[in-house]
Amino acid sequence: MTEAILLVGGKGTRLRPLTVHTPKPMVPAAGVPFLTHQLARARAAGVEHIVLATSYLAEVFEPYFGDGSELGLHLEYVTEVEPLGTGGAIRNVASRLHSAPEDPVLIFNGDILTGLDIRALVATHETSGADVSLHLTRVDDPRAYGLVPTDDTGRVQAFLEKPQTPEEIVTDQINAGAYVFRRSVIDTIPEGRPVSVERETFPELLASGAHLQGMVDSTYWLDLGTPQAFVRGSADLVLGRAPSPAVPGRRGDRLVLPTAEVAADAKLTGGTVVGAGARIGAGARIAGSTVLEGAVVEPGAVVTDSLIGAGAHIGARTVLSGAVVGDGARVGADNELRDGIRVWCGAELADGSVRFSSDQ
Ligand code: GDD
Ligand code: MG
Repeated sequence: MTEAILLVGGKGTRLRPLTVHTPKPMVPAAGVPFLTHQLARARAAGVEHIVLATSYLAEVFEPYFGDGSELGLHLEYVTEVEPLGTGGAIRNVASRLHSAPEDPVLIFNGDILTGLDIRALVATHETSGADVSLHLTRVDDPRAYGLVPTDDTGRVQAFLEKPQTPEEIVTDQINAGAYVFRRSVIDTIPEGRPVSVERETFPELLASGAHLQGMVDSTYWLDLGTPQAFVRGSADLVLGRAPSPAVPGRRGDRLVLPTAEVAADAKLTGGTVVGAGARIGAGARIAGSTVLEGAVVEPGAVVTDSLIGAGAHIGARTVLSGAVVGDGARVGADNELRDGIRVWCGAELADGSVRFSSDQ
């Protein structure tokens, strides 16, 4: 049985303020900490043993997931004293693996929502005889990712992490953040210092003639590293566009968790999720958005593609579009917040203090 490593130690800087008190994989998507979806999908693909490589806010994972038995998993946690980077984190958990030297070990970035056929990636690894196999996907703008050109047999020719110059943009195939490593390759990563698997391990393996195999798969794929992507991913889970066995309810236009209160004439659409204990007032319209637990949306507010943090308060008739409101923040009535604006945790905006004008 294949075992897996999940990399969940990143700081989630681009997701702030959601990640000020909560590590990115623990921010709720479709009603449960995002990591639950990845764990449940791995379990559904036959993985039973998963080691979580933690660093930033490491202490919150184990109290929530425990030994993993509720998900049918055996979970272990290994925390880095200082962040070791992606490769260092993989090396740091090697002693917990049960696999023999030739066995395949799955490794996942902890912020990817995908319909990847995990068994197919392992099968590709085994039939190609590769040292490392990588899930690849195609994106319109590859610059924020690891570029992975392959030959016509799928063999990886180069690995270019976050290219800086136009000449480096040689393909639209990117590293989708799921790998199979031959276990013995993990043991060759240097120990006890930061290592980037993308900037160091993959280029060095290629230079030494190792066989890296790419598997392009155009299934649903999203890196939830930004607030816009996070909200989109949560909505896609609710809508059923992104597959997960862990969505707590039926797929559809909305997901309202138990103990939430939604006024009869409020409209929830586009995969909106309303967390436990949250309240949505009369006539509010919420589309494609995430309302975390205990948040309050007052009557007549209009919320689109936005994320409202736990216990935050949105005043009457306020308009949010592409906005992020941190945990416990209070946005007064008659405000208008758009286009990636972020209200920090606990901040307060008075009634009518922010407006968009269409004049000029
Ligand atoms: N334990 C541990 N320690 N985990 C870490 C560390 C660390 O020091 N640094 C990052 N991680 C984890 C993050 O939590 C995340 O799950 C994963 O490693 C990748 O880090 P990100 O910070 O999300 O990287 P990225 O999104 O910029 O780029 C990566 O993902 C892209 C696909 O989304 C790279 O792997 C790219 O090549 C790839 O295209
Ligand atoms: Mg990422």
